[in-house]
Amino acid sequence: MPFPIHRKRRLRVSESMRRLVRESRLDPAQFILPLFVCPGEGVRKPISSMPGNFQLSVDELVKECEGAHALGIGGVILFGIPDLKDDIASGAYADDGIVQVALRALKNAIPNLLLITDVCNCEYTSHGHCGKVIDQDGTVDNDATLEWLAASSVSHARAGADIVAPSDMMDGRVAAIRAGLDQNGLQKTAILAYAAKFASAFYGPFREAAESAPQFGDRRTYQMDPANGREAMHEMDLDFEEGADMLMVKPAMPYLDLIRQAHDRFPVPIAAYQVSGEFSMLMAAVERGWLEYERAMMESLTSIHRAGAGIILTYFARDAARLLG
Ligand code: PBG
Repeated sequence: MPFPIHRKRRLRVSESMRRLVRESRLDPAQFILPLFVCPGEGVRKPISSMPGNFQLSVDELVKECEGAHALGIGGVILFGIPDLKDDIASGAYADDGIVQVALRALKNAIPNLLLITDVCNCEYTSHGHCGKVIDQDGTVDNDATLEWLAASSVSHARAGADIVAPSDMMDGRVAAIRAGLDQNGLQKTAILAYAAKFASAFYGPFREAAESAPQFGDRRTYQMDPANGREAMHEMDLDFEEGADMLMVKPAMPYLDLIRQAHDRFPVPIAAYQVSGEFSMLMAAVERGWLEYERAMMESLTSIHRAGAGIILTYFARDAARLLG
């Protein structure tokens, strides 16, 4: 038999053939759209470094979510921008906090939309760190922060969150949150742990969007060193053992190797967060005419999915769902 030199190209001859042999497919149901909610009414304030994204007041957020829900996306994740920040992050766990108010409005307006909340303190602290700061360098007290995280999770769940997603990177937070939820009869609320979250330059635009940049120091004493892959698996092991229902790698594209390892290692759903900087760098190139928008967007999402993420948090959720629909 002659060597089958045309075997590969035969499977690429037409779109029908390519479609038949395609190994991974994207589905709007796997996209989670991140949204920023702020006080006020009729507020739709553009985020300059993230074209097409806004700080939304609750009424505008409901409209945005109706649109996203109609496109069939999997759900939304909410980030709050409170009126007031203080050194104990009180807005994070107040029952009338901005995220809690938004959750009630959304559950009421769109009962079937899956609601996820980011559980962290950096948007609520005056210093912009993710927990209780105990010295000038921005050192965060792990155990005191756990109490805030559990309290925030309970108040989010009571207000309608289906999933809480801790992004603070304190040790032991998944166990503390699970215990807090269970003690309050909130067994049905799931935990999506930002398990391997790196101290990344790619969060830059988000910190403008969420007004959460640290006022001093940085997050390297709690977020992971980008060089460490084995440690990422250890972080994920711990969150899994502590009871996380789903595990996340964040950012996504610079860490595709870890998404693949996590997929092969854990029996729970793996999520990846295509973060603000990943979105913004692509959009900036698109605006300059250097990249084709739709192709670059879909290729980036496909690569994250192919690497092993069943769930993708992405600022492209709406447009990608529209294209797939
Ligand atoms: C909160 C949090 C951040 C992001 C999600 N949750 C910022 C940070 O850790 O500084 C980043 C998301 C993005 O860049 O899109 N801790």
